[in-house]
Formats: sequence, C-alpha cells, structure tokens
Amino acid sequence: MENPSNNKSDLISHIASSDQHTMENLVDAVTNFMVAGRETTSTAMTWFFWLVSTRPDVEENILQEIRSLRNSTETSNEMFGYDELREMNYLHASITEAMRLYPPVAIDTLSCKEDDTLPDGTVVKKGWLVSYHTYAMGRMEDIWGRDCSEYKPERWLENGVFKPESPFKYPVFHAGPRKCLGKEMAYVQMKPIAAFLFERYKLEVVMEDDGDFLALELYPILLKFVSQAYDNRLSILGVEPQGRILDN
Ligand code: HEM
Repeated sequence: MENPSNNKSDLISHIASSDQHTMENLVDAVTNFMVAGRETTSTAMTWFFWLVSTRPDVEENILQEIRSLRNSTETSNEMFGYDELREMNYLHASITEAMRLYPPVAIDTLSCKEDDTLPDGTVVKKGWLVSYHTYAMGRMEDIWGRDCSEYKPERWLENGVFKPESPFKYPVFHAGPRKCLGKEMAYVQMKPIAAFLFERYKLEVVMEDDGDFLALELYPILLKFVSQAYDNRLSILGVEPQGRILDN
C-alpha cells in the first residue's frame, strides 16, 4: 500500500502511515470507528433524556450551567466550542451518571490470548471467554453505595468540578489497553446536542413509564421537547429504548 502523507495529524492518516497497515485493515479500522461510535452515543442520549425527563431539578441545573456559560462568554446562539464544552461540568456529570445506570455496552465479553491469573487468584486459560456486566456493576451497593439506584449527577462533582472514577469501577468505556478510543469524541458529540436542546426546549414525558418492563421494551417512551420560546410550538420526539429518535 502506498504510504500516504505523514505530515497530517488526524487519526486515520496516522494509522494509514504505519507500515503494518494494509488497505484492508485500514478499511476495518474506519468501519470500527463508524460502528463503535454510532449506536453507543445514540443509546446513551436516549436513556439520558429519559432520565432527565423524570428529574426537573437536573434539567434546571443543566440549563443554569448553560446560561451562566452564555453570560460569561457573552454569546447567545452559536454552537459551543471545545473550551465551553469542557466547562460544562454538570452536563458532563449528568451524562456520565446516566451511562452508569444505562451503559450503552451493557455486557462485554473478551477472549483470553494467553494463560493468565487475575489479581484475586482466578486462573484464566488461553481461549477462555471472560465477561463483565457493566449494567450490573453500575447498580451494586458495594461499588456505588446505598444510593446506587438513584440518578444522582452530583456524585461525580467535587466543588462543582467533574471528578472521574477509575475505569475499573466504571467500565462503561472498558478499561486497560483495549479501552474505548472514542471516549472523548463521544462526549464532544453528546454534550453539544444536549446543550443545544436544553437551551431551547423543555423536556416533558408524554407516556409515563408504568414500571412494566415488557411495555418499555415494546413501545417507545414518548418525550416532548417543548420550545422555551413559543409555548404552543411543540416538537415531539419519540425516544425508543433501542436508541432511535423519531421526529414527528
Ligand atoms: C457513549 C459512547 C461510547 C461508549 C459507551 C463506548 C464504549 C466502548 C466499549 C465498552 C469498548 C470496548 C469494546 C470491546 O471490548 O471490544 C469500546 C471500544 C471502542 N470504541 Fe467506543 N464507545 C463509545 C463511543 C465511541 C466513539 C464515538 C468512537 C469513535 C468515533 C468509539 C471508538 C471505539 C473503538 C475504535 C473501540 C475499539 C478499541 C480497541 O479495541 O482497541 N467509541 N467502546
């Protein structure tokens, strides 16, 4: 394969310039990025909007954070830049907390390459499959305390600043050498969308969740984004647990 220009700093050029890459595995790498970043972020957003729709206090805090950023930067309608997104600590915490309860990759299975022994002495032989359950871990008292079932963005904040946890405690993006390569990009995609919507719309639940898990699986939860500017102009979005957003 021809060696493309080495003076480009984007990721694809970097991968392509490596001698170990053929055109075939470059296509695989690009496909991997596209697939890995699509359903994951949309699923995260779906559950996030649904959780926030049940918590007007969280919605209000998100809006306050956006408004105070707008005041300090003296901007009004522009899309937020990287620096502003970095300042959105409460929004970051709210999305992170939503993924603790509803991780887009709920369970992950890996195959062991060589015989190994885990830190607790468990032996894992070459070729064995090992799974960990991120969804269950996010709801364990031993890990997150007695309020583990509560949607509580504040647990991620220290003096108003987002404080990350060990990825081994919060393996939503996996941990170790094969951890998600698109984690930062995922937040850069999710935060502006959330900020854009909350700045303009108020979230209302159309169909309440009556606790029937089967119904939740079969029917979409309807969320309504009510324009903050014109009360009678409604934008209705149907948000399905599988991550699809229907715009009526
Ligand atoms: C909320 C969004 C996301 C979540 C929760 C997430 C989660 C994960 C998880 C759990 C893995 C490990 C999978 C495994 O064990 O095979 C992974 C891998 C990966 N993710 Fe993400 N991801 C997200 C978004 C993205 C985005 C936006 C991109 C890129 C545009 C991306 C690129 C990748 C790649 C390339 C890998 C493979 C890394 C490797 O095997 O070395 N992800 N992600």
